[in-house]
Amino acid sequence: MQSLAAQRFETFWSEVASLYSDQKLAIIGSDKPLNFGCLKNKHLCHFISNAKDSLKEAKTLGFIISTILNRSYDIIILELTKSRETNLGLMALAEEYITDGGKIVINGDNQIGVKSFVKNISNHWPAEKTVIKKKGRIVLYKKTTPSFGRWKKYRDFCINRDGYYTRCDMFSPKEVDKGSKKLTSVFSSKLFGEVADLGAGWGYLSKEALRLNDKITRVTLFESNHSAYLASKKNIDDKRATFRWASLENIRNLKLRFNHVICNPPFHSGHTKDIDLLRSFIFYSSRLINRRGSVWMVFVSGIYLESELKDHFDNIKILYKDNHYFVCQLLKPKIKRREYDK
Ligand SMILES: C[S@@+](CC[C@H](N)C(=O)[O-])C[C@H]1O[C@@H](n2cnc3c(N)ncnc32)[C@H](O)[C@@H]1O
Repeated sequence: MQSLAAQRFETFWSEVASLYSDQKLAIIGSDKPLNFGCLKNKHLCHFISNAKDSLKEAKTLGFIISTILNRSYDIIILELTKSRETNLGLMALAEEYITDGGKIVINGDNQIGVKSFVKNISNHWPAEKTVIKKKGRIVLYKKTTPSFGRWKKYRDFCINRDGYYTRCDMFSPKEVDKGSKKLTSVFSSKLFGEVADLGAGWGYLSKEALRLNDKITRVTLFESNHSAYLASKKNIDDKRATFRWASLENIRNLKLRFNHVICNPPFHSGHTKDIDLLRSFIFYSSRLINRRGSVWMVFVSGIYLESELKDHFDNIKILYKDNHYFVCQLLKPKIKRREYDK
């Protein structure tokens, strides 16, 4: 089933496609390349994203992929994200990379505030076409006078109130997540050897793990969001840290088995709740530790049932619990012996 944004874009594009068939086109803001399935000549379109999985999917569909805009374009399609600051930063970027007289298309759902966003843009550039449909709107603008340079600041990595480099397009950029704090409070002096940080974000858990556990020989940070991966490299200056821009699905065949996994698992894809994503983190964590290893995880209460952890681990120790979070140590992964012997 196509998303509302995809249906809206398809209607819009069917009305204008003939005007823009061989123009240089880029898509920014979206983590759903399938939303642009109706575009012909995908091999001429650039799909720009931070998300490893989205880029992989876009490549499979035939798009040219990149994490950055690196040339000028005749048309840039901006699909609004749920973060207003990210959208402002992307608009500044689009303005910078669009040719003079080029077009910018903004597509967004009502629930993420598309109406007020495009109202702001329409104060500066003429809206040439608007389609209101499927609980959102899509507007085509012609670039005229430079107007959005002041929003470039949202593309910078800045120090947040807890002293870490972050940017608005990643998890909990303004401050350390409360759940992550709960997790670090239980693993002091308990970690050693090889540690994996799954969904490492901008590096808070790993930085604390290294500070609080001098018996760690290496922490490998796995993160699928490219900005967060870059921020974590800025935040951690420790020879024991190794950084991997990778999606969990691609690390399942890793031969190395870890002594510990630390993780605050995601449970959203974009703005929708995604419990399967959370489950996959639990599953893969059970595959990455050695037989005597353990997984240290924090969960938001009510999102996930403690009892479900028994599907993948024989020994579950709840180390902390309040109305909002529970933190656990998961031991004895349930894996057939043969899998370990490989
Ligand atoms: C709840 S956040 C935790 C971030 C960080 N560990 C912390 O404690 O602040 C989950 C992280 O998982 C990342 N993530 C989501 N899906 C992923 C995947 N398939 N592979 C790797 N990382 C993923 C997200 O980008 C996000 O940074």
